[in-house]
Amino acid sequence: MKRAILFYFLATLFVACNSSKVEINADFYSKLSDQLNYLVQQTPDSLKVPRTYSEEKGYKLIGFKDWTCGFPAGSYWYMYELTGNENWKKAAIENTVKLNGVQYLTTTHDLGFMVFCSYGNAYRITGDTIYKNAILQASESLITRFNPTVGCIKSWDHGDWQFPVIIDNMMNLEMLFWTSKETGNPKYKDIAVTHANTTLANHFREDMSSYHVVSYDTITGQPVVKQTHQGLSDDSSWGRGQAWGLYGYTVTYRETGDQKYLDAAEKIAAHILANLPKDMVSYWDFNDPKIPETYRDASAAAITASAFYELSKYTSNKYLDAAEKIVASLSSEKYLAATGANGGFLLEHCVGHLPGNSEVDVPLNYADYYYLEALKRKRDFLNK
Ligand code: GLY
Repeated sequence: MKRAILFYFLATLFVACNSSKVEINADFYSKLSDQLNYLVQQTPDSLKVPRTYSEEKGYKLIGFKDWTCGFPAGSYWYMYELTGNENWKKAAIENTVKLNGVQYLTTTHDLGFMVFCSYGNAYRITGDTIYKNAILQASESLITRFNPTVGCIKSWDHGDWQFPVIIDNMMNLEMLFWTSKETGNPKYKDIAVTHANTTLANHFREDMSSYHVVSYDTITGQPVVKQTHQGLSDDSSWGRGQAWGLYGYTVTYRETGDQKYLDAAEKIAAHILANLPKDMVSYWDFNDPKIPETYRDASAAAITASAFYELSKYTSNKYLDAAEKIVASLSSEKYLAATGANGGFLLEHCVGHLPGNSEVDVPLNYADYYYLEALKRKRDFLNK
């Protein structure tokens, strides 16, 4: 009898756990569509795009010089692929062409984010050379920031650092790899590989957690300071920084086939997996002493999930399992906003810059972008 009761209890628990799991199907995409459509309706500016939203401050709209400018267009391109709905193609085109000036910027390292997520997806999906030319120009602009003595692309022009390089900068290399393949000119790839090598040598600690900012001496080419800007402390493991590193070295392995980058990605993955909480959604900083009573960063989780889908193609299924668990969590009502809430953004509970008291526990356009990219990679995986 006792056994029967235990069996009934376990069976009920199993059903309860599984019934709370979200099915990622056409109805689910239609729900995402309704939500993002609300965002599009609420932010009709002809030049600016939405970055974040809060009840108190409303929408933060930004122009083509902001590092996040390419994510709304990129999200709408992914929505077009996920739903096949032509309205998303229209929104994606409108939000890509708003960024016309971005390709000429030489004052930022973020051109990979800004251009490859918008124009990159636009060209991949449409094959229209107008988008291709913008990517080629952006790569030309980006490599003006490369210093051969340091062996890196300079990240920021602001602040007191001599030559700051942030871990996020690994994300701008994919566009350079692409440009070398497209033009047949190896110089972009050479710069990307040199940047990845210098970063691998100087940005990582023993446990493969990474510093956020490393600043170099431009005469000697040596690192002089290792600090944080958006993390808890200079020695802490800032959640999104780890995700950028994981994604960046996974891409660098894909583009070079060099085992050392796969090893780096797997070691970063091990550090992340050892620090993720039960629901697999990163804390904003893995060393916050207030854990578990502190903020999650759904943007870090979305980037990590997307990277894990790709990494699993090259190595172990354990990364696929981790990606699936992260996506399941992000797709639950704990993180995915109800239709009409959250200003129309998909994910809640992201952290932009906590030490700067900016964008804390809010939606962020890049969280939505990498979440949709993860969903697309998940779908591609299942259909292969
Ligand atoms: N690349 C800036 C950030 O991750 O906040």
